[in-house]
Amino acid sequence: MKTINRLFSTAFIGAIAALPVQANEKLATDNRCMNCHKIDTKVVGPSFKEIAAKYKGDAGAEAAMIDKVKKGGSGTFGAVPMPPNSPRVSDADIETLVKWILAM
Ligand code: HEC
Repeated sequence: MKTINRLFSTAFIGAIAALPVQANEKLATDNRCMNCHKIDTKVVGPSFKEIAAKYKGDAGAEAAMIDKVKKGGSGTFGAVPMPPNSPRVSDADIETLVKWILAM
């Protein structure tokens, strides 16, 4: 019985820990980021994990990434451009998404 209880509580804590990640993934899907990006495979744009790895330890990355997601651009990961996402996507959502990507 004890083991069963422990199994249940572990699963429960796991579900709670996964919630913010799922909320961010939904935000990315709703904002159409996932039309071009996936978490760990390249589609039209680089995978979010590839982006996070590139900017790891770069203190200025967050502000520059927010700016680029707003205005769009090309040349960092290849010739394919990212179109501007602002104002279709709100500044607050872009900030949340960039922080989520950088934390991968
Ligand atoms: C039409 C396709 C497309 C959509 C939609 C799109 N992206 Fe991109 N994204 C790209 C491409 C292509 C690149 C690579 C640009 C480059 O090489 O400089 C990119 C690059 C990025 C980068 C790296 C920027 C940098 O500073 O190097 C981030 C972060 C990013 N996208 C996040 C997002 C988010 C968040 C959304 C949704 C709000 C989004 N993208 C929507 C295609 C897209």
